[in-house]
Formats: sequence, C-alpha cells, structure tokens
Amino acid sequence: MLLRALLGCVFLFVLRAFSLSSNSHDAVMTRFSATPQIKNLIIDTDLFSDVDDAGALLLAAAASSTDVCLLAVNVNHPSSYSALAASAILAHYGHAHVPVGRVRRPLTNETFFDSWFFELGEYASKVAFHWSGGTLPWGHADDAWDAVSLYRKVLSEADDQSVTIASIGFLENLSGLLNSTADGYSSLNGRALIAAKVEELVIMGGGYPSGYEYNFWGSNASLAAHVVNNWDASPIAYSGYELGANVRSGARLMAEGPAADPVRAAYIYHTYNTSRPSWDPLTVLYATSGLASGLFEYGNEFGYNHVTENGSNAWVYDDSVRNQHWLKLKVTEDAAAAELERRLLEGARAAAKDDNASLGLNQVPGRHFGDL
Ligand SMILES: *[C@@H]1O[C@H](CO)[C@@H](O)[C@H](O)[C@H]1NC(C)=O
Ligand SMILES: *[C@@H]1O[C@H](CO)[C@@H](O)[C@H](O)[C@H]1NC(C)=O
Ligand SMILES: *[C@@H]1O[C@H](CO)[C@@H](O)[C@H](O)[C@H]1NC(C)=O
Ligand SMILES: *[C@@H]1O[C@H](CO)[C@@H](O)[C@H](O)[C@H]1NC(C)=O
Ligand SMILES: *[C@@H]1O[C@H](CO)[C@@H](O)[C@H](O)[C@H]1NC(C)=O
Ligand SMILES: *[C@@H]1O[C@H](CO)[C@@H](O)[C@H](O)[C@H]1NC(C)=O
Ligand SMILES: *[C@@H]1O[C@H](CO)[C@@H](O)[C@H](O)[C@H]1NC(C)=O
Repeated sequence: MLLRALLGCVFLFVLRAFSLSSNSHDAVMTRFSATPQIKNLIIDTDLFSDVDDAGALLLAAAASSTDVCLLAVNVNHPSSYSALAASAILAHYGHAHVPVGRVRRPLTNETFFDSWFFELGEYASKVAFHWSGGTLPWGHADDAWDAVSLYRKVLSEADDQSVTIASIGFLENLSGLLNSTADGYSSLNGRALIAAKVEELVIMGGGYPSGYEYNFWGSNASLAAHVVNNWDASPIAYSGYELGANVRSGARLMAEGPAADPVRAAYIYHTYNTSRPSWDPLTVLYATSGLASGLFEYGNEFGYNHVTENGSNAWVYDDSVRNQHWLKLKVTEDAAAAELERRLLEGARAAAKDDNASLGLNQVPGRHFGDL
C-alpha cells in the first residue's frame, strides 16, 4: 500500500509490465509489444445524500491496481464533508495521492438530513473525521482543486483516448469542462481536450428510454441538459434509474467486512444495517470493466439522449448516431447484487490486509469502529 500511495500509477505500469513479461509463456512477445493499455479513470461524485457513492469509490479504488488507474476524484456537492470524506476513503484504500476537486461555489459545513423518508443517516462528516487522510485531511477542504482545473490538468497529462469519466452525481463541473478555454495545462478548449483524451463518458442519470431522475433535475437541470445535449466529443454510456434501483447491495459488506473499513461504516451510518440501491456502484463497475464484466449489455443500437430544461430525459432514435448507449443488465438483479457484494468485500479486505502488512500490526490500526 505504501509503495502504491507514494508512486501512484507509475507503480502500476511497472508492476504490470513486470508481471506480463515475467510469468507468461509468451514473455518475449509481450516484452516487445506496445505499452499495456491502462484505463485511466476520473470519478465525478455527489458523495453526501446517498451512500452508494462511497461504495462506488471503494470499487474504483480497488480496481485501480493493474488495469485501471484512478487519476482524480471530483466532488460536485458543496459540503466540505463531501470532499474530505472522498479524500479519507481514497487514502484508506491506498490512494492517498489521488487529487480531489470540488465545486467552485463556497463550501458549506452542511450535513445530510433525510427530510424525504426520515430514515437515512448522515455519514460524510463521520467518515471525514474518523478516517481523515489523503490530500484533504480533516480541516483542509479548502485545499481541494477547482474541479474544472483538475479535469484539465489530468486530461492534458493523460495518453490520448485513455480516459473514462464516470459521472455519478450532478453534471455541473462537466458543463464547466465543456465550456473551458485554453489555459496553462492545455492550449485546447474543453471540447477539443475531451475529443483528444476521453475514451468514454459514463453517466448515472436519467431513465431509459425516458425518465425523470434526480441527478439530472436535483441540482441544476439546465447544466445537466447542457452536458448531455452537447457532449459529442466522445462515446457515452448511460446508467439509468431502472438499472440500479432494485439491485440492493451493502448488506454483506456490513455483515462480513473488516471492522475498521470506512465504507462499511458509511453504509452502517447511512442505512442502519440494511442495504441500498446500486446506481453508482453499477456505473463504476461498468466504467472500470465495461461489457467484459458480463453484467451489462446495451439497450439500444443507435440514437442519442436528450435532456429538457426541467431535467426530464428521452431517447431520440436517430440512426446516424451510433456512439451513445444506455445500459441494461444482462444478468438477474440478484446476480448483479451478488457480484457487487463480492467486489466490495474483496476491496475492503485487500485494504485491511495492506494495512496489517504495511504497519506490521496484528490488529486493525487506529480509529476502531467497534463491532457494529
Ligand atoms: C466549517 O468548519 C470548519 C471547522 O471544522 C471551519 O474552519 C470553517 O470556517 C467552517 N466553514 C463554514 C463555511 O462555516
Ligand atoms: C456553459 O455554457 C452554456 C452556454 O453555452 C451555459 O448555458 C452554461 O451555463 C455554461 N456552464 C457553466 C457551468 O457555466
Ligand atoms: C463546477 O460546478 C459548479 C457547480 O456545482 C459551478 O458553479 C462551477 O462554475 C463549476 N466550475 C467551473 C470552473 O465552471
Ligand atoms: C444553473 O447554472 C447556471 C450557470 O452557472 C446559472 O446561471 C443558473 O442560475 C443556474 N440555475 C439554477 C436553477 O441554479
Ligand atoms: C446487521 O445485519 C446482519 C445480517 O445482514 C446481522 O448478522 C447483524 O447482526 C446485523 N447487525 C446489527 C447491529 O443489527
Ligand atoms: C419536463 O418538460 C418536458 C418537455 O417540456 C415535459 O414533457 C415534461 O412533462 C416535463 N416533466 C416534468 C416532470 O415537469
Ligand atoms: C488484520 O488483523 C486483524 C487482527 O489480527 C485480523 O482480525 C484481520 O483479519 C486482519 N485482516 C486481514 C484482511 O488479514
């Protein structure tokens, strides 16, 4: 964990090149083949009012080891605790170096209160405090990057067509990226930078073939419309309300996960030991593993998504557009949930093992979370 934290994805390249060239029977061929294709990932999350963002971050961090490199996390909710909790979670999973960006409007110290169902609990401030770490330790939310600058920096540094952006919250910073102009990081404007660097944009939002969903209407519907209706510079995959609504996950992580795991704790704080729909974890699973995961298939052959000014969306069946798809499950909802639970537990256990090993301790270090 320590090495990975210090060296970031450079370590992944070395590790991967080494494992490819040393233990494969066609070592000679792989040694001279092109650089292995690493999928670079940026997450844009509204980590705050639903814990599935935390589950999604766990999956992204756990995947960022051999084939995936997590470049940055942008937070699109203005509470300081959202950015701090994202940093804490990244640090716990061995990615303390990954930069965190946040919305430009002033940060608040808002905490979540469930005024819809009077059921769900607040978790971001608790995770931020008890697992403080990474680039934004407790008290340092204002050190976060401006989200659009962070997009421009990491995109400009990445290989062409290598970046997948997973949007699992509001789309306002992506609107800012689209509108951005040349700066010290790149002479390209936002649209041209996206066209050069982004392999795919994966959006959790909307319903398919039509719907009215929170990530599009919940913050600034006209900015969601701006992104969806103007993003023509890369392929897009949509994960709609119906994809994750009945895929319940978190129960196994809570029951069997390591006691000191921050995402396990987040699920407990938020759900009081039940489970949650899996909108964001499924979206990130597709972003990291694609159709090869075996869980998804496309729901359409052609056409594009359109969002109205009130945040409703509907598919437009135009057969000249072939690079936009909405996702459907290829397996049952129970099978998808089981696969998510497996990956959540595996990621949480790997981080706990890393902690034990790197600290040379025979007990879970620091910040005990009791036996919840
Ligand atoms: C939020 O809380 C921190 C202390 O935890 C304080 O320094 C900061 O001024 C507060 N911000 C606002 C907007 O109240
Ligand atoms: C980006 O520009 C469009 C107009 O082209 C505007 O409607 C939108 O509000 C802008 N986005 C942001 C984040 O300011
Ligand atoms: C990032 O998103 C926020 C809205 O959450 C917006 O106000 C801000 O303008 C965006 N940043 C930039 C640089 O456009
Ligand atoms: C949405 O964002 C745009 C650009 O920042 C702003 O002009 C507009 O007032 C915002 N709308 C709402 C409802 O906040
Ligand atoms: C949480 O749920 C699990 C079953 O999923 C159960 O074994 C455990 O006792 C529950 N814990 C609490 C505190 O209710
Ligand atoms: C949103 O606007 C569209 C198009 O104007 C309309 O068909 C739809 O009924 C509206 N939806 C809501 C929830 O207001
Ligand atoms: C870390 O150490 C604790 C205490 O010995 C142990 O209970 C736990 O299973 C270990 N975690 C892993 C993943 O090995």
